[in-house]
Amino acid sequence: MNICSGIWFIRGASGLSNSPILSIKDLTYAFKGERPIFQKLSLDVKAGEFVSLIGASGSGKSTLFKLITGLLEPEQGEIWIDGQMAGNRLGSVGYMPQKDLLLPWRTVLENLLLPIEITKESKKQRIPEILEWLSRFGLADYEKAFPQELSGGMKQRVAFLRTLMTGKNLLILDEPFGALDSLTKRNMHSWLLGLWGELQKTVLFITHDLEEAILLSDRIYLLGRKGLQDINVNLPRPRNSELIYQSAFITMRKELERLIDNES
Ligand SMILES: Nc1ncnc2c1ncn2[C@@H]1O[C@H](COP(=O)(O)OP(=O)(O)OP(=O)(O)O)[C@@H](O)[C@H]1O
Ligand SMILES: [Mg+2]
Repeated sequence: MNICSGIWFIRGASGLSNSPILSIKDLTYAFKGERPIFQKLSLDVKAGEFVSLIGASGSGKSTLFKLITGLLEPEQGEIWIDGQMAGNRLGSVGYMPQKDLLLPWRTVLENLLLPIEITKESKKQRIPEILEWLSRFGLADYEKAFPQELSGGMKQRVAFLRTLMTGKNLLILDEPFGALDSLTKRNMHSWLLGLWGELQKTVLFITHDLEEAILLSDRIYLLGRKGLQDINVNLPRPRNSELIYQSAFITMRKELERLIDNES
């Protein structure tokens, strides 16, 4: 789908399909000379789902991100994207890495044109759409600014917009709000929930922030030494940041903390 087509999809229960857009089967990976980080790891993310991947620092979240996006190749196992066994996966998902988000020598607009340059589409044609998106993202008139002139939250929104500009249905975000203060983070949560509610996208969201994972997700995968645990988040939508004070949320948080403690 061209996200700039002006067509907006309203998410409803019927919008969720049961077919996995991402399917990982028996994935094993080790860095050279190290013991495996994962062994026979499997996961599924269905079209339209918001799934978080949580785990302690060093548990392998970013490594899994790199394997899915094609920046690393698995030793064993299969990665399926959109029903295709993905050999050369680079460019088949929209992704936002944990670090090095924006190119400092490029303006906001030039950063946003990067995915379009890669696919060799006409940049001129897409610029009006990009400017419209910047305005929607609260960044009107910032197209000529350089990343260092933006606040943390603004940088994250530009980076997320660049991920959207790939036009891909599956978005993988590696700790996108990890470096933000709690107030900005909270605003970004509302913003992301609203956007995800409107766009027909599937999100795999990597974080080590439990509250963030519960607030945003349909399901959570907990990555630990024993592999992955699949946890359902049975909290109603639409959600907002007030949810964190509700007893069902607090119970879920305690349960997750217990599962993480069992891992360590
Ligand atoms: N290029 C590399 N070569 C060797 N080991 C690596 C490399 N990259 C990561 N590792 C190791 O792999 C393990 C998992 O790292 P990874 O970055 O995937 O963790 P993470 O869960 O994303 O952590 P964090 O929450 O801190 O971002 C760590 O022990 C790390 O030291
Ligand atoms: Mg990481």
